[in-house]
Amino acid sequence: LYGTERPNSKGVEFGHQASLDALLAEIRQAASQTYRADPLLDGKTASGETRPVVSPIDGTTVAGQVTEATPEVADRAMASARAGFAAWSRTDVETRAQALERAADLLEERRGALLHLLQTEAGKTLDDALSEVREAVDFCRYYAVQGRTLFGSGEPMPGPTGESNVLRLRGRGVFVAISPWNFPLAIFLGQVSAALMAGNTVVAKPAEQTPLIADMAVRILHEAGVGKTALHLVPGDGRVGARLVEHKDVAGVVFTGSTEVARIINRTLAGKDAAIVPLIAETGGINAMIVDATALPEQVADDVVTSAFRSAGQRCSALRLLCVQDDVADRMIEMIAGSARELKLGDPRDVSVHIGPVIDREAKDKLDAHVGAMKRRAKVHYAGTAPAAGTYVAPHIFELNKPHDLAQEVFGPILHVVRYKADRLEEVIQAIEGTGYGLTLGVHSRIDATVNRVVEALSVGNVYVNRNMIGAVVGVQPFGGHGLSGTGPKAGGPHYLLRFATEQTVTINT
Ligand code: SER
Repeated sequence: LYGTERPNSKGVEFGHQASLDALLAEIRQAASQTYRADPLLDGKTASGETRPVVSPIDGTTVAGQVTEATPEVADRAMASARAGFAAWSRTDVETRAQALERAADLLEERRGALLHLLQTEAGKTLDDALSEVREAVDFCRYYAVQGRTLFGSGEPMPGPTGESNVLRLRGRGVFVAISPWNFPLAIFLGQVSAALMAGNTVVAKPAEQTPLIADMAVRILHEAGVGKTALHLVPGDGRVGARLVEHKDVAGVVFTGSTEVARIINRTLAGKDAAIVPLIAETGGINAMIVDATALPEQVADDVVTSAFRSAGQRCSALRLLCVQDDVADRMIEMIAGSARELKLGDPRDVSVHIGPVIDREAKDKLDAHVGAMKRRAKVHYAGTAPAAGTYVAPHIFELNKPHDLAQEVFGPILHVVRYKADRLEEVIQAIEGTGYGLTLGVHSRIDATVNRVVEALSVGNVYVNRNMIGAVVGVQPFGGHGLSGTGPKAGGPHYLLRFATEQTVTINT
């Protein structure tokens, strides 16, 4: 899909029993191994305090052990990455691209272990876990292809006779990559592979909930040919991230997480007596879908349930606010609730399960509190039930009086619905724009003028018309938002690597 000779990573047909059995056998085999994550500086582990990584599946299973980096270890990682920059930035583009492509092959070869960790450490269903491995593979291959084109020999510029002018792209220096738990492999590797391909060295801090899979990803990149002095791992909590961002040698930060933390990073970078450096941030959204009376009800039900509840609603792209034209609202809501009722909640290692746990106790408590508040204030159209052990949150559908009643992103399987009158579409558009977020938007309508009006009026990063609104594919739907949702760069798109680079013009009087 990004050049016919380089298709995206292949899926597995779960309906084909032999393929599914083979996949499950790979995962079982991987489950018998032990896993750990350590600070990794120049390819060597650093010591520190070790703690178990507890699985959200039941709140007791230990997925592995992590040794967390101290702020001093974070400083040492920055020093190592700075020292490694000269060698990695001079490593030729083809070698860098081949390392990423080799890493993609290794990811596919070791999918059993990656799937096992995505399930036990992050609580993902098999379907979600497999999509994530594929996305990680795609990022590595896509940025290798893009890197060859962008970072090759430079672009000759026109100039007067007797002078040669060339514009070329180079790495900036040390990039700090701070990644989230909701895509602990794909977003982790997307950030890291882009920064490396552009010629930067990287200090990567994975989410504290998901260090094990990040450790495996870093080891795969090293094995594939990424310099050990080019990529360093520092598992830890927010204090470690803060220490990295405060460091004087940071040349850029790539961050995916909350708007609040993105703001803190931005302020820290701006307040330092050091170089002015870019922040690439991808945060959340109060993502809306507009459904008018011409939409196909069955398709809407399917797309809404997928968009709101898949991955337990823990995608930044997920649908939070469904706006339905009132003439069809009763029927649509009934069909959506009917589809939601079919969803099976539970241990995500059971292939028939659709919704696994949310990431941890803190997330569950926050979501349960929101559900409690909504039950008092809103009309309940559907309230599922959740297993008691582990951190499960049942899907819910609430009807609000107006869009403004949803004031913040709710990161879980909870859908909010509002009705609008056909002649009040503009108010809905204004309310969505008024949230200040701009990540994803869904539109279900068979009227071109309506679709065009909505798409034109709303400044969101990704718009999906007459389909679900999650699961952006690398090289197909470049992904990222504006406003409160991020600084705009599109992961998996042709311009992403540019954000990690500096440009240099070389003029030679010949
Ligand atoms: N890239 C993911 C998606 O499109 C992020 O949430 O669903």
